[in-house]
Amino acid sequence: MKKQLTSLFLATLSLSALAQNRVTVNADQGKTVISRHIYGHFAEHLGRCIYDGFYVGEGNTRIPNKNGVRLDVVEALKKMKIPNLRWPGGCFADTYHWKDGIGPKAKRPKIVNTWWGGVTEDNSFGTHDFLNMCELLGTEPYLAGNVGSGTVQDLSDWVQYVNFPSNSPMSNLRQQNGRQAPWNVRYWGVGNEAWGCGGNMTADYYANIYRQYATFMEPKVGDEKIFRIASGASSNDFNWTETLMKNIPGKMVEGVALHHYSTFGWGPNEKGSATEFTETDYAHTMNEALKMDAFVQKHSEIMDKYDPQKKIALVVDEWGAWYEVEPGTNPGFLYQQNTMRDAVLAGATLNIFHKYAERVRMANLAQAINVLQAVILTKGEKLLLTPTYHVLEMYNVHQDATMLPVDVKSEDYTVGNYKLPAVSVSASRDKAGKTHISVVNIDAGKPQEITVNLKGMKASGVTGRILTSAKVQDHNTFDNPAKVKPVAFTGARLNGDNLTVTLPPVSVVVLEL
Ligand code: AHR
Repeated sequence: MKKQLTSLFLATLSLSALAQNRVTVNADQGKTVISRHIYGHFAEHLGRCIYDGFYVGEGNTRIPNKNGVRLDVVEALKKMKIPNLRWPGGCFADTYHWKDGIGPKAKRPKIVNTWWGGVTEDNSFGTHDFLNMCELLGTEPYLAGNVGSGTVQDLSDWVQYVNFPSNSPMSNLRQQNGRQAPWNVRYWGVGNEAWGCGGNMTADYYANIYRQYATFMEPKVGDEKIFRIASGASSNDFNWTETLMKNIPGKMVEGVALHHYSTFGWGPNEKGSATEFTETDYAHTMNEALKMDAFVQKHSEIMDKYDPQKKIALVVDEWGAWYEVEPGTNPGFLYQQNTMRDAVLAGATLNIFHKYAERVRMANLAQAINVLQAVILTKGEKLLLTPTYHVLEMYNVHQDATMLPVDVKSEDYTVGNYKLPAVSVSASRDKAGKTHISVVNIDAGKPQEITVNLKGMKASGVTGRILTSAKVQDHNTFDNPAKVKPVAFTGARLNGDNLTVTLPPVSVVVLEL
């Protein structure tokens, strides 16, 4: 027995001597809840996201649907626990006139989708279709209002149409169109990318415009207090956030947005392939993605100056990777494949959002289906779940759980000119008392061993799931839709207050203690 104990001790000692990654999970310091809304998604009238993605039309007899909404999509998104869905854009939102999308479908006007491919938009998917679909998905809608080419009256009417119970011009119109009870939509965007496609405004000008629009979205309508989200900065445009926070009274805004995409450049053909890339390209994408930490930190610091009590949320309502479109597809449709690179990017980004959970209370991955870093791709009757989908599904255990702060001392992962942390970690405790630790090995070259000190908790066992694949370029295809999928993880050993985890290269693991 003594001999056995000695060899166990030596084995443990040699493992911890090897482990250069050291993590402390401060289980005794949890106080902030990770809002489930940071797991939100985005559905724009862009390419095949709405049409062919969510919606295949009421008359479709080939693809099982309810009121035209694909049932396989509903099943997958419910399993992933989608908490909110942003619609109808993006850039499209500032061209969208919601009254075009209500009433009998045959009578709805057609418009041109000027931002995305110049295709004809027949408005067959409008307000009722979207809000009823959200009910089917069990998700909260987030409506993005048109500020760029709309009017204050239009947006004010939309709020009334959607949220006013009865006996008003707009609620009567809604009831005439078949919906009795209001939907009580809580989340409202006041324009999108006002500095760009939303009107090319200056920050000062937009702050004033915002105040005007927001005034007429008050008072609260129906039972719900409206949560108004100001169009926010791009990546490191800190002046935008500063100007908004300085000029918009705190009582007029509930959220300020931020957009950050990981890309190689915005010029023609600069974005690189989604599936054919080198390890240096991978490191570049991850370097861009990890900038989210500094961006969120800096935008939060600015918000802290004007809102020390953190009443206003930072809403990262567009994030993800942006590559060149798949060869042979419409360049205006932004259809891209999704590999293990994207899974690692998603895991590391969500870990960053957890870290700043006090301020980041909502986020939306761009976009849900067939566009940019999608969780679902469709082709006719076929549907596949991307590696990113699996990360969001595995991570949903963190939704509304209490964030446990982590201290991470990571090895470096060096490729070319890039030096990145090899591992990314976050942790939370759910309402049932289970602790979940999410660990990402960003390193594409070698496994990483992590020693985790569980401070202030007693764990009796550990289980887990892992998403990984032989190559970082691996992805699911319609012919091989389950090449990348989560499996049980057996690389964690619990020893008292310490946990040793060995992760293969490019892997995402969620542990349950
Ligand atoms: O998600 C695609 C586009 O990216 C959105 O329409 C816009 O807001 C952003 O520039």
